[in-house]
Amino acid sequence: MKMRVGILTGGGDCPGLNPVIRAVVRKGIMIYGDEIIGIYEGWRGLIEGKCGKLDLASVSGILPRGGTILKTSRTNPFKKEGDEGPAKKIEATMAAQKMDALIAVGGEDTLGAANKLHLRGVKVVGVPKTIDNDLFGTEVTFGFDTAINIVMEALDRLHTTAESHNRVMVVEVMGRHAGWIALEGGLAGGADLILIPEKEYPLEDICKTIKKRHARGKDFSIVVVSEGAHITVEGKPMSAFLDSKKDEFGHLRLGGIGPGLADLIEKQTQFETRSTVLGHIQRGGSPTAFDRVLGTRFGVKAIDLVHQGDFGKMVALQANKIVPIPLSEAVAKLKTVDDEWYKVAETFFG
Ligand code: F6P
Repeated sequence: MKMRVGILTGGGDCPGLNPVIRAVVRKGIMIYGDEIIGIYEGWRGLIEGKCGKLDLASVSGILPRGGTILKTSRTNPFKKEGDEGPAKKIEATMAAQKMDALIAVGGEDTLGAANKLHLRGVKVVGVPKTIDNDLFGTEVTFGFDTAINIVMEALDRLHTTAESHNRVMVVEVMGRHAGWIALEGGLAGGADLILIPEKEYPLEDICKTIKKRHARGKDFSIVVVSEGAHITVEGKPMSAFLDSKKDEFGHLRLGGIGPGLADLIEKQTQFETRSTVLGHIQRGGSPTAFDRVLGTRFGVKAIDLVHQGDFGKMVALQANKIVPIPLSEAVAKLKTVDDEWYKVAETFFG
């Protein structure tokens, strides 16, 4: 049955979003005869009624493009507890646009809102997105592979300059609550120490590892640190010494741990140290083949679920199959790095 389906992308952008949009539009129009409505700037677009029809021409050529043609925002309609206003506006826009269903592509925040709307009776299907790879229930999210390839390439480049100058290089990567980017990017790039948010590291231990490595004849070291890592200095969290700001949606703006850590390492070890913050370079640009294919598979499955009436679900990758899992399950907790995984990386520390 032909339907009118809305699609939005919310939260931080991510390579692979455009392949999802293209897949929904292509399968929706060509196989199901649907009308697809693009919603601009995430939930904000649905609250403010910023929508427009997507046809085949609007998704032509977008497969290799990073970012999202629909734009995005971090607006969360449920941010203010007890305020039903934004959710009612969303329902009003969906009714005015005669939308039969909605596909929400996003991370824990966006999908958490999708789940709350589902509980209010909105017909919604979720698609997981984040370079951080911390969404529960799916083995991988698209964007992650692109990000770790960028980290790997940066580490390859930093190796040659670190080696030439006998320096310690501290490389700060994204990863707010989970260390997947640091772990897998660091492993692929041959990091000598990887610091992730799941663990706590006294500065003394970090310096001991670097000194041990230099004592065995290595004159340089590469330290990868997640932006959300917990480092202590004389028993106090290092974050207390850094100037963290909040964005307009109240999220702590991370970043800055790398340069701070580099200063402390240099002071404690007397090894010349430099820092590099990879920042949004990890999120921009063209998706890898893996992310294009995963985004495409997610998009195709999402529009299929809409037509099967299987709402309140998120598409997920499990054992190389795309399966629906309840949104409530996916947003209940984060997928963090476990000890077994970290031990693999530890083999190469120092
Ligand atoms: O959620 C993905 C992410 O890239 C995090 O790794 C990072 O902390 C955050 O987004 C940065 O957000 P913004 O682009 O809003 O500064």
